[in-house]
Amino acid sequence: MPHLSGRLVVASHNAGKVREIGALLAPLGVEAVSAGDLGLPEPEETETTFVGNAALKARAAAEASGLPALADDSGLEVFGIGGDPGVYSARWAGPNKDFGFAMQRVHEELQKRGATDFSARFVCVLAMAEPDGAVETFEGEARGMIVWPPRGTKGFGYDPIFQPNGLDRTFGEMSHDEKLPMTHRARAFEKLLASLK
Ligand code: IMP
Repeated sequence: MPHLSGRLVVASHNAGKVREIGALLAPLGVEAVSAGDLGLPEPEETETTFVGNAALKARAAAEASGLPALADDSGLEVFGIGGDPGVYSARWAGPNKDFGFAMQRVHEELQKRGATDFSARFVCVLAMAEPDGAVETFEGEARGMIVWPPRGTKGFGYDPIFQPNGLDRTFGEMSHDEKLPMTHRARAFEKLLASLK
């Protein structure tokens, strides 16, 4: 079980992610600093699983800084196309980060295979690494289905084609506050926080 006090590196160069994680950790008396602020290099995500990539990023930051480090890796798995885009969710959007294009590709791949299963899940894995190399991971998921055409402009990434189970609106049609508690990220955090108590 990880034990936390003092400073922790958030192994991300994304300011939004660092802020979000910092706010979640502040009540525990933990000060989050970003890998970017410490000038740590961003490792290439060479693994083929969310767990592998999250652990790789956390381990690299912990080793380079001598502090405990937290990293996350997330994406969308669409069952009718074998779990794609999965760990390649960001890469499907191409160098221009065009998620209209990435969503179109999900739709086309489903059509190409004549898929009848539109179920999908967002996955988030958080990895906590100690400077001595020990790593623990926590996984959260949000289950739902792929809809076409995309609906809503409020979210990011694949939100407009993801409709969570039991609801008739997509993540893209929900406010940030409404979406947050049902996200894969919030659920992974719940598990991490439970392990610290
Ligand atoms: P990474 O975890 O930063 O490597 O990227 C994961 C990719 O998955 C992002 O580029 C997003 O497009 C997608 N993704 C992860 N979480 C969400 C979400 O809550 N909504 C929409 N897309 C997401």
